[in-house]
Amino acid sequence: MASNIIPVITIDGPSGAGKGTIAQNVASELGFHILDSGSLYRLTALASQDDGIALSDESKIAELALNLPVEFLAVDSGLKIILRDEDVSEAIRKEEIGMLASKVAALPKVREALLERQRSFSEQPGLIADGRDMGTTVFPDSALKIFMTASAEERAERRYKQLKAKGINANIAALVKDLKLRDEQDANRAVSPLKPADDAVLLDTTEMSIEEVTIRVVELAKQRF
Ligand code: C5P
Repeated sequence: MASNIIPVITIDGPSGAGKGTIAQNVASELGFHILDSGSLYRLTALASQDDGIALSDESKIAELALNLPVEFLAVDSGLKIILRDEDVSEAIRKEEIGMLASKVAALPKVREALLERQRSFSEQPGLIADGRDMGTTVFPDSALKIFMTASAEERAERRYKQLKAKGINANIAALVKDLKLRDEQDANRAVSPLKPADDAVLLDTTEMSIEEVTIRVVELAKQRF
């Protein structure tokens, strides 16, 4: 029985803490699968916006989330996300969709609708899942739970550099404001709020490089698995 257990690493934390980048690095180091759970909330937000569904219509949004016609395609540059035959990889990363995702993510029926889909990503040889409630709700039995943080200013700075590299104009003060607002929404909702699991390892990456964080997480994984 024990040999059938799929190793799962969860990384939770506030927006822009670097969870996605670290998940990708660690996954390629260990040969694990990846779940970017935020993308499912972003896709639900984008699809409900396209369909003109009001935020007050929780059941309709949950139905959409349950039947989300999405495909994740591995390509050289990373992952291509196709929603209803359209490449939405860039569109779902916009700040406004992040903010809408945070509103959609506060709806209990939507979270319920996405639960099994998220769990289905867990396959051998292992999974690394990032989000807000990976360690607390989706994979509570995970053997390695990390809660990754960085100061809001550092997170905004990182996001600013990412956007600039893509040729998108941004303003640091506005990014700090948006990040703080989204964190506040995520931490104060009633269902699966953003918080560390009781048995999570806390990792403040404010003063750490991507390489240092990757090494630390791989070390922890090797100790646990
Ligand atoms: O991680 P990302 O910024 O892409 O997530 C977008 C939003 O989706 C978050 O602000 C949060 O409200 C929601 N989310 C969530 N639970 C997760 C992952 C994301 O509520 N596990």
